[in-house]
Amino acid sequence: MRRRFVIAGTDTGVGKTVFSAALVGALSAFYWKPVQAGLAEETDSQTVLRLSGLDSTHVLPEAWRLAAPVSPHLAAQLEGVVIDPDQLSPPDCDGALVIETAGGLMTPLTSSHLTIDVLARWKIPAILCTRTSLGTINHSLLSIEALRRRGVPIHGVAFVGDEDAGAQAAIAELGRVRALGRLPYLPELTPQSLRQAFVRCFRLADFREECAE
Ligand SMILES: Nc1ncnc2c1ncn2[C@@H]1O[C@H](COP(=O)(O)OP(=O)(O)O)[C@@H](O)[C@H]1O
Ligand SMILES: [Mg+2]
Repeated sequence: MRRRFVIAGTDTGVGKTVFSAALVGALSAFYWKPVQAGLAEETDSQTVLRLSGLDSTHVLPEAWRLAAPVSPHLAAQLEGVVIDPDQLSPPDCDGALVIETAGGLMTPLTSSHLTIDVLARWKIPAILCTRTSLGTINHSLLSIEALRRRGVPIHGVAFVGDEDAGAQAAIAELGRVRALGRLPYLPELTPQSLRQAFVRCFRLADFREECAE
């Protein structure tokens, strides 16, 4: 079985897409966004294509593309469609696969299914992207607890933002998770700056190992 990761987040806007682009680029992996809600701005797949330094064959088509930039269940309602979470399954590809979820773990896909319900079925190791700013300990520990309760293996936590050594240590210790590293805010986001930051701040070997949990 080829390496697969789910890139989950404590929230929307925490840096999942930027981290995914860095990881996909570093591993020459494939990227898949199962549900894209919001098509007017650059989509996450387009961002990953722009920032990973890889060609478009590394970005697999989304299962659902919904126009409104809102929770997937609402975006689907607006289009008169219903996402079938049981039909969502990771595509085959010729290498490692990085899957970015929409929003946070409890973002709804339908009026009765959450994103985390799909992760509980897949059991693919999750990397939790989390901010370093104030409030992150609470959001991170809640997310870790929710993943554990559903038997989702946690590969580790990837911090995004300015260093907060106290908060980062608290999350790793209280959450009993591996801190994979911290991606700083980059004033200029380019494939080059992102690749350099990833190499500096993470150990590639950590993403080649099997999940500890
Ligand atoms: N390491 C970073 N350096 C600079 N900007 C970042 C970084 N990580 C995220 N951003 C910016 O923050 C915003 C949200 O990031 P994004 O990766 O799209 O979050 P998510 O996928 O969790 O919604 C975007 O505008 C993105 O460019
Ligand atoms: Mg995203």
